[in-house]
Amino acid sequence: MAKEIISLQEVKNFQTRSEEFFPLNWYKEMLNDTPVYFDEKTNTWNVFKYKDVKQILTNHEIFSVEGPRTSISVGANNEEGTIPDNTNIMVDPPEHQKRRSLLSAAFTPRSLKNWQPRIQQIATELIDDIQKNSTVDIVQALAGPLPSMVITALFGVPVEDRSQFKHWVDILFQPYDKENQEEIERRKQEAAKEYYQYLYPIVVEKRSHPSEDILSDLIKAEVDGEKFTDDEIVRVSMFLLGAGVETTSHALANTFYSLLYDDQSLYQELRNDSDLVPKAVEEMLRYRFQIAKRDRTVKQDNDLLGPKMKKGDAVIAWMSAANMDEEMFEDPFSLNIYRSNNKKHLTFGKGQHFCLGAPLARLEITLALKTFLQNFSRIDPVESFELENSLTDSAPGQSLTHLPMKVYP
Ligand code: HEM
Repeated sequence: MAKEIISLQEVKNFQTRSEEFFPLNWYKEMLNDTPVYFDEKTNTWNVFKYKDVKQILTNHEIFSVEGPRTSISVGANNEEGTIPDNTNIMVDPPEHQKRRSLLSAAFTPRSLKNWQPRIQQIATELIDDIQKNSTVDIVQALAGPLPSMVITALFGVPVEDRSQFKHWVDILFQPYDKENQEEIERRKQEAAKEYYQYLYPIVVEKRSHPSEDILSDLIKAEVDGEKFTDDEIVRVSMFLLGAGVETTSHALANTFYSLLYDDQSLYQELRNDSDLVPKAVEEMLRYRFQIAKRDRTVKQDNDLLGPKMKKGDAVIAWMSAANMDEEMFEDPFSLNIYRSNNKKHLTFGKGQHFCLGAPLARLEITLALKTFLQNFSRIDPVESFELENSLTDSAPGQSLTHLPMKVYP
């Protein structure tokens, strides 16, 4: 049964898109004044402090991922767009462990090593297409297309079908906007159907002729005698697209935003020493990734976080706010790629559901950034850029739709 969607936009009705894109003032206020509070409008607990958010994400005895309400919607609400209950990875242990083991067959360190040249090639192609001495929209040219091209290549979809595939991915994970919900849902359902009909025969074919790709790895995966069926693989692949495409695009786009508007000297620093790039990527995930929040349902009455929470209550863990908690990060509201503990951010979650694709996302962003730095000596903001008009009204928060910048050879 489809879960009821919790509208996080009602928890905090931001006055502008820009404020929601970088809601530090609100986080500051919440962290100081109401670190655990009950929002009457949405009927949810909202939790902001690092230690509390960590507790929610890791203590599955008390905070369950299985509940009747959720803050994210995945896929589409038709037969082809949903994941069967017995395959859904969003369940609690012990069941979760088996499902995660099946899925992790596609995310081993060996796979990552195999994929690196393919990811590098895609990053190089996209960056080679950017004209020197021009103004480029980096979201359209790189941050938007890269993650979906990578996942398409890693699925092993035939090269000639990749643009069609990307088209489905774009529709399937297009954010809902308030005015056009019905039309967007109709397009998503249509795309889910076409996607399913396209991918199913490819999975069947790969079962007889496996190769080095994610779909083949999922076909081969076996835990306690259980394997994915062809049908499940198609549906799980849709979940992977949902989990890994928009998130990675957001992280990459915001990294460029940060290089342009947070600290303009950082670009040269990274060019002079590319070993700093992984550190910079982690700090960007902590400081500029502002859409990380997850929901859980209270399993047993408790007062672990202070107030009394009742069985069945919905809880939102605001990970992006927890990343700004001064009890965890010194001077948290400033960007500092040298901070020793920036890898402790909660952007990829924590505990049993920790993001399976984190190494892949890190690799994509690092390779793209390094390749970009090698190709362009300088980047500058464009004066006419208006942040407020360059953001999408998306379900999990605000993402950049455009980011023009001047690039120099
Ligand atoms: C910057 C990019 C990404 C971010 C910020 C991100 C964030 C997250 C977070 C916060 C969770 C935990 C959810 C929870 O505890 O409820 C998660 C889980 C997951 N992510 Fe990612 N993710 C990213 C990229 C990816 C990629 C590239 C993939 C794969 C293609 C991926 C696959 C998954 C999967 C399969 C899970 C579920 C793991 C489980 O429940 O055991 N993610 N991700």
